[in-house]
Amino acid sequence: MRGVVLAGGSGTRLHPLTRITNKHLLPIYDRPMISYAIEALVMAGITEIMLVTGGTHAGEFLRLLGNGHDYGIDRLSYAYQDRPGGIAEALGLAERFADDEPVLVMLGDNIVEQTFRSTVESFTAQGSGARIILTEEEDPVHLRHLGVPEFDEARRVIRILEKPEEPPSHYAVTGIYCYSPDVFRIIGTLVPSGRGELEITDVNNWYVDQGSMEYDVLQGFWGDAGESIDAYYAVNDFVRQNGANKG
Ligand code: G1P
Repeated sequence: MRGVVLAGGSGTRLHPLTRITNKHLLPIYDRPMISYAIEALVMAGITEIMLVTGGTHAGEFLRLLGNGHDYGIDRLSYAYQDRPGGIAEALGLAERFADDEPVLVMLGDNIVEQTFRSTVESFTAQGSGARIILTEEEDPVHLRHLGVPEFDEARRVIRILEKPEEPPSHYAVTGIYCYSPDVFRIIGTLVPSGRGELEITDVNNWYVDQGSMEYDVLQGFWGDAGESIDAYYAVNDFVRQNGANKG
């Protein structure tokens, strides 16, 4: 299984900080944000990774990560997204890197307290379709900024709503997704959403409609440090006090 870490976008929700650097290079406690996603993938057993970035600070990722060997990565590749076209478009740039292998995709601003290695193992056993990681979230205001799954009585996901006014459950879709290689064909069929982006939620709903979407619920803390300046500081506070990426 190959890993794709997405670290592009214009980071408008963290302006003006992101006018002077890429969001994923801002500090979380004592390290640049992107280090946590890289560490999370390596801890989950994924050591062939592509980093997709964009904008004006792309060279800094090379300065930080180099060939990846210091981080336990066997092979680190880079891709450059010309314009912020959404998570699904960024993932599409990794098609040749994936080379018909399944991929685990992680948004570079997501931080987890506990490793998700068990999800990688479960997806390997699953063998096809997709698998997402959910997190419990009681606050409906927070859920309105995220993807939210709706379940049937058997607790299967029947659809995912992106930033819903009325969240249908108390779970959020984290930015950690496992896909079989057919994901790249599906990305090719997407049309841009209202915000002009190819939405990862549309990709996920394709698998939901096929009946091939499974999920796990993450243990411990999850944070999206790019969601808002308050979320950024909340994640910083958590990591400073509790750490991240625990085995
Ligand atoms: C994206 C996804 C959303 C998910 C979130 C997790 O949101 O679209 O479904 O819950 O990442 O970080 P965005 O960061 O693009 O607003």
